Amino acid sequence: MKSVVRLVGLGGMAILILLDYATSHAEEVPHHGLTVTITGNATDCLACHDGSMTKTVPICTVKCELKDPHTVDKPYPPAGQEQSYVPAERIAAAGIILVNGQVTCISCHDLKNPNRHHLVIENDKSRLCFTCHIK
Ligand code: HEC
Ligand code: HEC
Ligand code: HEC
Repeated sequence: MKSVVRLVGLGGMAILILLDYATSHAEEVPHHGLTVTITGNATDCLACHDGSMTKTVPICTVKCELKDPHTVDKPYPPAGQEQSYVPAERIAAAGIILVNGQVTCISCHDLKNPNRHHLVIENDKSRLCFTCHIK
């Protein structure tokens, strides 16, 4: 009995060490004079990009128009519209990250890219857009 307790204790400790390793190694990058976790979800980005520290980012979660390109927290591809979207395996191969199968800020933005707008893929000739959208 004692040895079982000891084993469980050791297992628990290993899990704690692993958790600690995972959280203390979340990748952080310099970002406009601040330090930001680049794997954050939309909520993490919007903690600053909601008008409090920066100007408000137009995001579209309901009805998306061309004037607000920020589609977030939407499944990829949208159900029933698969023919209009490049298959998920191909966008992954192109470097696009989906979070839980959804488009989020870091699907389009790579904070490690120092260029203007920190895009995952530069958007000349709408290259970024056509990585996901089929014309
Ligand atoms: C701690 C606050 C903070 C967080 C968190 C944050 N940002 Fe920013 N971000 C800023 C500031 C400050 C600027 C520069 C000023 C501005 O745009 O108003 C900026 C600028 C940007 C720009 C514009 C760069 C340019 O060249 O015009 C992009 C794109 C951006 N952030 C994306 C993101 C994304 C994506 C996330 C989440 C992964 C994120 N940011 C998280 C504070 C933050
Ligand atoms: C579908 C791709 C896509 C998604 C998703 C996306 N962005 Fe962008 N973002 C862009 C592009 C492309 C630009 C460059 C400006 C433009 O064409 O509107 C941009 C520009 C920006 C800028 C600079 C705006 C300015 O006026 O200078 C910020 C800040 C930003 N995005 C933050 C975010 C945040 C935060 C999220 C998540 C809530 C997000 N983006 C989601 C594609 C995206
Ligand atoms: C990461 C993949 C991805 C990228 C990159 C991307 N989009 Fe999208 N886009 C989507 C998804 C998914 C939807 C569907 C959202 C929904 O379910 O309403 C969408 C919807 C849209 C819509 C609404 C269309 C409709 O039929 O409802 C417009 C407009 C749009 N995107 C424009 C753009 C533009 C402009 C760019 C380039 C700046 C871009 N997208 C880049 C994934 C992407």
